[in-house]
Amino acid sequence: MTIIETKGLKYSYPDRTVAVRDINIKIEKGKKIAFVGQNGSGKSTLFLLLNGTLKPETGEVLFHGKPLKYDSKSLREIRKSVGLVFQNSDDQLFAPTVYQDVAFGPANLDYPREKVEACVNRALECVGLSHLRDRPPHHLSGGQKKRVAIAGVMAMEPEVIVLDEPLSNLDPVGADDIMDLLNEFNHFGSTIIISTHDVDLAYRWSDYVYLMSNSELIGEGVPEELFRQTELLKLAGLRQPSSLEVYHELERRGLACGYQSPKTLPELVNALRPPELMWVDAPPGIREGDTLNLGILYGEYSPNSPYEAVNAKVLHIHPEGKAIVELKRRSIKAGGILLYDTDSYSYPEILHLIEEGDITFVGAMGKKSKTLAEEDGIFLDVTTGVIDKSILTALCGKRCMILTGGGMVEHAFKRIREYVEMSGIELNVGVFNKEEGLPWIEAFEDSVEVFRT
Ligand SMILES: Nc1ncnc2c1ncn2[C@@H]1O[C@H](COP(=O)(O)OP(=O)(O)O)[C@@H](O)[C@H]1O
Ligand SMILES: [Mg+2]
Repeated sequence: MTIIETKGLKYSYPDRTVAVRDINIKIEKGKKIAFVGQNGSGKSTLFLLLNGTLKPETGEVLFHGKPLKYDSKSLREIRKSVGLVFQNSDDQLFAPTVYQDVAFGPANLDYPREKVEACVNRALECVGLSHLRDRPPHHLSGGQKKRVAIAGVMAMEPEVIVLDEPLSNLDPVGADDIMDLLNEFNHFGSTIIISTHDVDLAYRWSDYVYLMSNSELIGEGVPEELFRQTELLKLAGLRQPSSLEVYHELERRGLACGYQSPKTLPELVNALRPPELMWVDAPPGIREGDTLNLGILYGEYSPNSPYEAVNAKVLHIHPEGKAIVELKRRSIKAGGILLYDTDSYSYPEILHLIEEGDITFVGAMGKKSKTLAEEDGIFLDVTTGVIDKSILTALCGKRCMILTGGGMVEHAFKRIREYVEMSGIELNVGVFNKEEGLPWIEAFEDSVEVFRT
């Protein structure tokens, strides 16, 4: 279903600079959309047109098929439905406290006081800033300010959230936090639109990409296809995403195979052509024809690794104690990932699971889960890019745990299953969740361990 559409949109600033020209887009509900382009290509202007802040010179913006009107009542409605987060948080935040800032939108919608309070509390909790509610926003860090600005938009419960360069001026951890948050909103049904000149971000994050250059749209498509068009990217003054560049270079050297558009590190690793024959130390008692379990130790396949990651068939044993083996990368369950649902968190139980389950790698996703772990002194090996790093670790044979809550358990579960299906490498996946009857778990109960105490 199309949620936002534009037809022949054109806008010039009063000094006659044409900022956008002939923009025709159709945005599907529930998708993650990126507008990619160099500085000055027209992204911010387009975003101001999408929620009626600017009025087009020609053309129109349609929301759910209805053309935008520019009287103040219609504008209030569209701004409730299409929330815009500015590039610079200081342009957005102005109230004396975080609470008042977030409350501004809902209060202006004439909600009753209790509803305003409920919306603000929910939004602050969502972005993990409830504890800063009485602080002045201008004393916060860049990442915190961005989260306040996002909460201000969230408090109006918009259908579409538009974020102009959401990661500019954020450090990498702050940036990952914001992207986690956007993924969570999207998971619960919000349509998310961002602008960025970061091709890596657009490539790995978005469902659909629009490419802008010189006030015009010069390309669009799913990221796998759009970012393959190097000439078009050059025209827009952009480069290819790094993971694609690395992949093409490996492919040229015969080191990669079979995987056209790896987006994440696990996908890139999967695209590597596995060594077929190799020498390893022959463990005592081994004979030709036997199968060895190898793990990865200091970056090399080794029968002495405490973790089992792949099977290898012994073809030949050399008198000096080395063996030639044939690697079967896809033939064994390699390590595992246990998803622990923090909606039913209990402290001694989780420690017990980590110890009994021989878990050597723990990650947390989402503010709430990170805080729970922190408070109980659970050491977290990762707090950003958690799913991918857990997959990479499991591929080396280790057992990992991911702490997360809400809908993110399902999201993580599906991502890991996707990887298993794509790679043909069977990772053990477990879900620790007390709720009965969740359809996405039930569907997998034969192949996935589900724990309920
Ligand atoms: N307030 C303004 N007055 C005049 N020209 C502007 C103004 N804001 C942006 N522009 C011009 O409009 C074009 C598009 O800018 P913008 O929408 O900010 O692009 P982007 O967000 O992609 O960097 C640029 O040529 C820019 O110089
Ligand atoms: Mg801009």
